[in-house]
Amino acid sequence: MQYFNVMDYEAPAQVRMNAAHWDYYAGGSGDEITLHANRAIFDHIRLRPRMLVDVTTCDTSTSVLGCPVSMPILVAPTAQHGFAHPEGECETARGVGQAGTLLTASSVSSRRLEDVAAAASGPLWFQLYVFDDNNITIDVVQRAEQAGYKAIVLTVDVPRFGNRERDLRNAFHLPASANFDVPDVTKLKPSLTWRDLAWLKSLTSLPILVKGVLTAEDTILALEHGADGIVVSNHGGRQLDGAITSLEALPEVVEASSGRCEIYFDGGIRRGTDVIKTLALGAHAVLVGRPVLWGLAVNGQEGVRHVLELLRNELELAMALCGAPTLKQITPALIRR
Ligand code: FNR
Repeated sequence: MQYFNVMDYEAPAQVRMNAAHWDYYAGGSGDEITLHANRAIFDHIRLRPRMLVDVTTCDTSTSVLGCPVSMPILVAPTAQHGFAHPEGECETARGVGQAGTLLTASSVSSRRLEDVAAAASGPLWFQLYVFDDNNITIDVVQRAEQAGYKAIVLTVDVPRFGNRERDLRNAFHLPASANFDVPDVTKLKPSLTWRDLAWLKSLTSLPILVKGVLTAEDTILALEHGADGIVVSNHGGRQLDGAITSLEALPEVVEASSGRCEIYFDGGIRRGTDVIKTLALGAHAVLVGRPVLWGLAVNGQEGVRHVLELLRNELELAMALCGAPTLKQITPALIRR
């Protein structure tokens, strides 16, 4: 089997996985309207390429919160990589490092965050879910800092878990995380508010990104409460079904932030041209969720590396064909409004 694009990994990944685990990875909430819209929206955005620009070399390298990476394509936090590979997140970390980019490790993990850090050759961020017991948060944030993670990514779009009907039909329950002793990881703190961001900042010297923002209003609140970065995301269509797509939300978030922090993006990125469209609309970098899991299931670290390399190569080609050989040249002028 040859894999010419990241979608080529999807069906082979499904064949290799337990059906309920596959549904957990693939599914969204409710009617999966937002899940599908995340992909479909990219078809409605068209590029305005420029000609006769010297594109002999196109440079995809950048830095994220000051940390150098090979491309503006990072890995989104996704739970339980053990469903895709016996080595779980450790295997993912190896592949991401080989691609020269950054892994955001989920709180809900098959492997302990320390083991993931030991396996990783590239930079890591730690995604945080906040439970009712503050001691769990204090402990895990300090452990992440000690293990060398470079930022905390606070996920704010899960006051409760979305209604994922595929999981209900399969009677699927998310197993406990290797990171902490919480039997039911779907019972998060529903009383979490913006005020808790200040508390979280007092626990760590690491920068804190807020993941799951979809409006200008929340962008302003996140910045007022000390966020160091924002991830525009609807959780891959797994939380509020009917929520706007990340791409529709991006322009208002970028405008409201007025350059005060780096804006990240996830949801539906499957092509290098998706990446260039998102960067043109003002994202600093994108994160990729499911395709990395497909690569992991099909071919372990090599599959993860290849999925990321495919996206990097496609971005590099898109930069050449758009006449934008550096990331700085990817501006709103590339998009037809
Ligand atoms: C996720 N996502 C997620 N987000 C998060 O903050 N913490 C988590 O533990 C998880 N877990 C998780 C599991 C699975 C199987 C998926 C598919 C997604 C959401 C994820 O970070 C990201 O927002 C989306 O996956 C991005 O969309 P794409 O690239 O999958 O379309």
